Amino acid sequence: MFVWTYKANLRPFIDGLKNRGQSIGFVPTMGALHAGHLALVRRSLAENDRTVVSIFVNPTQFDRRQDLETYPRFPERDLALLEKLDPEMIVYLPVAEDLYEGPVERRHFDLDGLDRVMEGRHRPGHFDGVATVVKLLFEAVRPHRAYFGEKDFQQLRIIQTLAQKLNLPIEIVPVEIQREADGLAMSSRNLRLDDARRKAAPEIHRLLRQARDMARQGHTPEAIRAEIIRQFEQHPLLDLEYFEIADEQSLQPARTFEKGKKYRGFVAVFAGDVRLIDNMALY
Ligand code: PAF
Repeated sequence: MFVWTYKANLRPFIDGLKNRGQSIGFVPTMGALHAGHLALVRRSLAENDRTVVSIFVNPTQFDRRQDLETYPRFPERDLALLEKLDPEMIVYLPVAEDLYEGPVERRHFDLDGLDRVMEGRHRPGHFDGVATVVKLLFEAVRPHRAYFGEKDFQQLRIIQTLAQKLNLPIEIVPVEIQREADGLAMSSRNLRLDDARRKAAPEIHRLLRQARDMARQGHTPEAIRAEIIRQFEQHPLLDLEYFEIADEQSLQPARTFEKGKKYRGFVAVFAGDVRLIDNMALY
């Protein structure tokens, strides 16, 4: 395994591989790796000669200080998991000053309004922070392909848009959501759920499936939204932040289901002080 901290060392190493004709896949993460991340890494290993995984808890994308401070960190365990998947794995563990080359601040990006709905509306500045760090990571690693999970579907759409706008020669590869046996979408934040809330959390997946079933039965987005919100509001342990039905491309809320377009249900809830998000294709 090759572990790099500074761009000055990482770049020539990757350039050397590319000069030898090797393709580079990249999986950016914030660590606390779980089976969802490992699915991204496996996909990259299958589709590229070499895979780079970055582990960096990016301060500029956190809108709540407590969330940044309590974000789970298990660097040794993460490295062991990656080495097990591929002893030739390239791991990039940047330090903020080197990655940002200056003040560790978010920059502003025009993201075609994709950042103003749902997560963006509830977490001001979050997507500028994500776009800032992903651009810096892409510049450091310069991969051929980069892998992002559909659990953060809005993030995925924003990164696709960013790559297009900046003309980056990087293929953005979406990977479907990995779920626990009871349906809960895998997330590093699940580790912070207490027993009662961990038991309650699969309700999120159940209600997304109900939204999908209602869509297939011909209900309107408005009727589905009203029913799903009603059920969330009755739940004693899950505190709904939003449930939206949106067009997959524009992420704008859907008033009707138009033929030929794709729609998803998107949800964010607080389970105690742990914020969980999930989504599901409705059509
Ligand atoms: O999805 C994540 O873990 C993060 O938002 C990312 C893409 C690694 C940027 O910090």
